[in-house]
Amino acid sequence: MTGRKLIAGNWKMNGSLNANLALLKGIQSGLQAPACDVAVCVPASYLAQCQALLASSPIELGAQDVSQHEAGAYTGEISAVMLKDFGVRYVIVGHSERRQYHAESDNQVAAKAQRALANGITPIVCVGESLSERESGLTEEVVKRQLAAVIHLNGHCISEIVVAYEPVWAIGTGKTASPEMAQQVHAVLRAQLKAATPHSDRVRILYGGSMNAGNAAELLAQQDIDGGLIGGASLKPQDFLTIIAAAH
Ligand code: PGA
Repeated sequence: MTGRKLIAGNWKMNGSLNANLALLKGIQSGLQAPACDVAVCVPASYLAQCQALLASSPIELGAQDVSQHEAGAYTGEISAVMLKDFGVRYVIVGHSERRQYHAESDNQVAAKAQRALANGITPIVCVGESLSERESGLTEEVVKRQLAAVIHLNGHCISEIVVAYEPVWAIGTGKTASPEMAQQVHAVLRAQLKAATPHSDRVRILYGGSMNAGNAAELLAQQDIDGGLIGGASLKPQDFLTIIAAAH
């Protein structure tokens, strides 16, 4: 990858007006000219609050999901245009929790990525195998299938997206893929991107799944790991800052 790494926090369904204020204040007070790009993907209900709190900050705003539809009778959904209204720069699509609990298919994830790009928002497309898939030797097959679904985006180049490799068994479990295990999958994804576009080196491939202050430096030192998608550790200012400092 050429360019800066990206460290993105995924707050998931956590936070409150008070907690968000304390968290963002804590991160911002320790953040001086970061050597990487930094984003926080916050719950949709707090986009307005976080947009205001981040107004003069290098930290960019992200969302955790977006509707595949443009507008209309889709109760409960949030459109890319709405996200754009709040200055959203990134949106996570196809997180394994969405795939698992909301039965999102590869095609839906691709439609969401497409919708985000059409509105000038960079999708962070998540891929990753479950424990049983890994144990059955299906890791490569699964992540390649998930990435293949987004490779052909009408009118957009795959190089405009961010990819996040998140082994499902490592999310929120404290079990991290070893740097070598992660790098192996990242290399597979990089090769797939290379075959699809001459601009594959622009695509940032993040690692996610129990990345924390203790293991970030080693993971981020791997050749094809271009940043991190951080859940639990992004809710602790000092831990998130340590991870950011490790991304250069
Ligand atoms: P985790 O979550 O860092 O808490 O494992 C990562 C993610 O699900 O994005």
